[in-house]
Amino acid sequence: MAARRAGQLALLVKVLTSLGISASSLVMDIADEKSVQEAAAAVEKQFGKLDVLINDAARLAAGDLVETQSIDEIRQVFDTNVIGTWNVTQKFIPLLRKSDHGRIVDVSSGAGSFGDPQYGFLNGALGIPCSGYGLSKLAVNGLTLKTAKELQSAKILVNAVCPDITDTQGAGMGRPVSENAKGVVWAATLPDDGPSGRFFRNGMELPW
Ligand SMILES: NC(=O)c1ccc[n+]([C@@H]2O[C@H](COP(=O)([O-])OP(=O)(O)OC[C@H]3O[C@@H](n4cnc5c(N)ncnc54)[C@H](OP(=O)(O)O)[C@@H]3O)[C@@H](O)[C@H]2O)c1
Repeated sequence: MAARRAGQLALLVKVLTSLGISASSLVMDIADEKSVQEAAAAVEKQFGKLDVLINDAARLAAGDLVETQSIDEIRQVFDTNVIGTWNVTQKFIPLLRKSDHGRIVDVSSGAGSFGDPQYGFLNGALGIPCSGYGLSKLAVNGLTLKTAKELQSAKILVNAVCPDITDTQGAGMGRPVSENAKGVVWAATLPDDGPSGRFFRNGMELPW
């Protein structure tokens, strides 16, 4: 596991270890190129390769109307969601190439889709504008497709997954993480002849 907060990571490793799951962690800020480079070097030193990369970290933008959104906040959202995801993908590709079954899952959102009937651009996104966030996820979806095509010959499968509305913060909105993580795990453990360069929610294909 990788995240910015060492204390939180240590706690999560402890929880997983107590459940009998082998886990280790490293600190990584995806918006900081040096931090990602160091994280990739640490994984290479400890494991020599990477089988699965799940790009989950993201930033939501408050308000998010085209007319009123703070430009500084839009920059930060794109810096994390798009450039950060690109940065991590780029630095870990050499390690994924060393795996026999490399997989990349970009955790995206239906808010970054044109055609998603629930949350897409053409369908209202539940009445929430999601402009900066949605546009950043639209770019993430494009990045997924470009990466998938580039890594096709290396047989690395690259897909985008919308986890659906998830109660990450325990606020009672959406399904629990344990339910919505299943679609992400599904894409992370696809068989070698599985799809690549596609967009899914709960294992069902979504329109771009
Ligand atoms: N929750 C939903 O309903 C929903 C719906 C559709 C898609 N998604 C997508 O699912 C993913 C997970 O969402 P979530 O609900 O878990 O979001 P969240 O609760 O806001 O968590 C986002 C995580 O990203 C981390 N992060 C942000 N910037 C980072 C950086 N520069 N470097 C490293 N980590 C960074 C945050 O770390 P800190 O704790 O250090 O801030 C936080 O742990 C996201 O990609 C999101 O867009 C979520």
